[in-house]
Amino acid sequence: MDSYRLEVRNINKSFPGVRALDNVSLKVRQGSVLVLCGENGAGKSTLMKIIDGVYQPDDGEIFVDGEKVNIRNPIQARMLGISMIFQELNYIPEMTVEESLFCGRWPTKNGHIDWKSVRSHTLELLEQESLPYSPTMQMKDLSVSDIQMLEILKAISIDAGIIIMDEPTSAISEREVTRLFGKIEGLKSRGKSIIYISHKMEEIFRIADDISVLRDGKVIDTRPRADFTIEEVISLMVGRKLESNFPKRHLTIGEEALVVKGLSSEKAFKNINFSVRTGEIVGFAGLMGSGRTEIMRAIFGLDSYLSGEMTISGKRVSIHDPKDAIKSGIAMLSEDRRRFGIIPIRNIRENVGLANLRLFFHGGHLHSAVENSTIGKICSRMEVKAPSLSTTVEELSGGNQQKVVLGKWVLCDAKVLILDEPTRGIDVGAKYEIYKLMGDLAAEGKALVMVSSELPELIGMCDRIYVICKGEIAGELQREAFSQEKIMRLATGYEKRMGVPQ
Ligand SMILES: Nc1ncnc2c1ncn2[C@@H]1O[C@H](COP(=O)(O)OP(=O)(O)OP(=O)(O)O)[C@@H](O)[C@H]1O
Ligand SMILES: [Mg+2]
Repeated sequence: MDSYRLEVRNINKSFPGVRALDNVSLKVRQGSVLVLCGENGAGKSTLMKIIDGVYQPDDGEIFVDGEKVNIRNPIQARMLGISMIFQELNYIPEMTVEESLFCGRWPTKNGHIDWKSVRSHTLELLEQESLPYSPTMQMKDLSVSDIQMLEILKAISIDAGIIIMDEPTSAISEREVTRLFGKIEGLKSRGKSIIYISHKMEEIFRIADDISVLRDGKVIDTRPRADFTIEEVISLMVGRKLESNFPKRHLTIGEEALVVKGLSSEKAFKNINFSVRTGEIVGFAGLMGSGRTEIMRAIFGLDSYLSGEMTISGKRVSIHDPKDAIKSGIAMLSEDRRRFGIIPIRNIRENVGLANLRLFFHGGHLHSAVENSTIGKICSRMEVKAPSLSTTVEELSGGNQQKVVLGKWVLCDAKVLILDEPTRGIDVGAKYEIYKLMGDLAAEGKALVMVSSELPELIGMCDRIYVICKGEIAGELQREAFSQEKIMRLATGYEKRMGVPQ
């Protein structure tokens, strides 16, 4: 007979206006991976936060190793051997790497924090994982993918029996994913149980022993992986069949909107030359850490650069901070949305509206009706799941927060829209809507730049793709020449080394 590490029975949880979990029961076997799938807002993170003691259920029971437990807070969860990697990377920018790794579980000596031991353990962990950071580096100087790797490291190093991973791979590279999966295999063989949440179907089918599908707060089905196909999981998740392709529109491409010449930074990228035209969607492919995000950050004025020039609609612009960028007609959806995209304690209307006040202010008055209907329309188009526009963004599920940020930039009248990983954390059903929206924006004459780590979406949606390798443009491909293989060869530097003409 299987022994269950963790069992939840008949869990209910409501938030004002939302029934987040509706009589949920699940079992996790010892030494196995249970994957939870479901659309944005289905209740996945809420259930995990209940198991981690962050939220209390309205009713229902939790058993750990067959024993009924009351998990009142995360510290108690830790004591029961539960550890969690959160979907939203919550870190304090000023903290150092070692502080962040040991925060909440400081080793002590004579009643004081034992800093020597903190340092030596940190060095040991970093070396074990061959992570190239110093223990005293501040979190704000790390990239999103570095921070995610540290979170994984932290959760795994606690030596918990039950490890919850809420979208742990949203920001890390394929190589790091493979490494994580190797680790998960190791954890399994040591009898640990893992609950894994992801929107990436290939990943789910690679790592799962069992799969549970959640929809609208209910468990729809749980089966061993082998008894599911990807299509079945998707249709159970969204409750309908999906149009799976990319809604690419073929538009007349206009004149050059943004031209970048000879852009170089100190370390991250060198001599970047590219352009994007009105009505065009231009992709940036490349491995994680190749410098794509850094290029976009420099263009948007978030980072400084050493040399280079930019023109917008033929006019030379000089951009020193995001304010200059917005004034010049550039908007950017950032990869690290918690830091740059949203004001969590404000509601949806305010988050979308603040960036777009000119749409709703006429003759010194705020036209609330126009504001409500415009923002309402964009939110329903992107299927933002929320009780109302007055819902605080903090209360939304991870994927729905992303849709709100996207909505904010979509409404603004920028000529050039830079989207860094626009569909990260977005469920399969809503992705299609976002692609359609991108097509509409291009049709309105905007110029779109899309950075993405998902090759199928770049290939499906772009007119041209630049491939970045180690901070340089390794190649430029026209739509007719797109192929995953070609892009990967350029991204890994293989073609250049082999001297293949581009
Ligand atoms: N603190 C909160 N206050 C109010 N409502 C909340 C809160 N946390 C979650 N909700 C609501 O509960 C529902 C389930 O959210 P949850 O975060 O569990 O979804 P999810 O399945 O993790 O989605 P995603 O894939 O987008 O991360 C959503 O409707 C969400 O708005
Ligand atoms: Mg979630």
